Amino acid sequence: MPPNLSSRPSNQRRSDYMGKADIVARNIKFALTGEDKRNWFAGNPVATAIMDGASILFPVGETYFINAVVHFRDRVSDPKLLAEINGFQQQEGIHSREHRRYNNAIKAFGGDVDALEQNLRDEIARWDDSPEFKLAVTCAFEHFTAILADDLLAHPDFMAGAEPEFSRIWHWHAIEEAEHKSVAYDVWNIVKPKGLKGYLMRTRAMRLATRVFLQQTHNNAFTLLAARGEAATGRNIRRALYFGLVKPGTLRRQMGAYLSYYLPGFHPWQHDNRHLIEQRKDSYAAPITAAE
Ligand SMILES: [Fe+2]
Ligand SMILES: [Fe+2]
Repeated sequence: MPPNLSSRPSNQRRSDYMGKADIVARNIKFALTGEDKRNWFAGNPVATAIMDGASILFPVGETYFINAVVHFRDRVSDPKLLAEINGFQQQEGIHSREHRRYNNAIKAFGGDVDALEQNLRDEIARWDDSPEFKLAVTCAFEHFTAILADDLLAHPDFMAGAEPEFSRIWHWHAIEEAEHKSVAYDVWNIVKPKGLKGYLMRTRAMRLATRVFLQQTHNNAFTLLAARGEAATGRNIRRALYFGLVKPGTLRRQMGAYLSYYLPGFHPWQHDNRHLIEQRKDSYAAPITAAE
């Protein structure tokens, strides 16, 4: 029986009525080194470089997200949200560690990963660093990771032909991004500037996140490709567009979900995808430590 929203107490947050996933930090070490897994994504250098280019953003990005959310912990009194913040912090901390290991592993394929990571640090250094805006930026990137995660989990053929361990780390990350997708946003709803000012800050942060995510992933991917002996030829540019717009086609499929963020009453759990988490999470139930 759905709750009667019109009768909810005025101090009850809208998200309290929504089902949310439990947040479980799965401390897994992935085995990405060893045999040469160059072009690990179905032998496709462009698809591989796009995913690797995104991976390079995570250690710096997720550290930023943790700090942005934890900054406001003292403003939160709800024990459930406090527990969710802890879960979020643990999950993002392990993601950051594992993508650092991932990024070290792909150095063997070519490309100056450290220089690409520094590009993101330099970019962040130019942003408004007020705590509220940092949280708004975090909410925006968390929406990006949530819709990318949803796309990966909803389409089992997304990573068809990928090396199993690379597929595994991306699915693991997707499950946890889906689980904690509303944590930053629920904190934001407590501390945001009131009224129009809050909405304008949230959507300004999303426009920034959109530019940075697309620019940096694109730049990282083509820099890696060049270092791996693949020029930015017309063919490779077409392959990148095909990846984004046709197959798997995440940018096309998720456009509506992306735009929903601009609605004034947006909340991440308005899109309830707990069934996708349920379908996948058992493969990660036990902490597994793989050989280095
Ligand atoms: Fe993450
Ligand atoms: Fe996240």
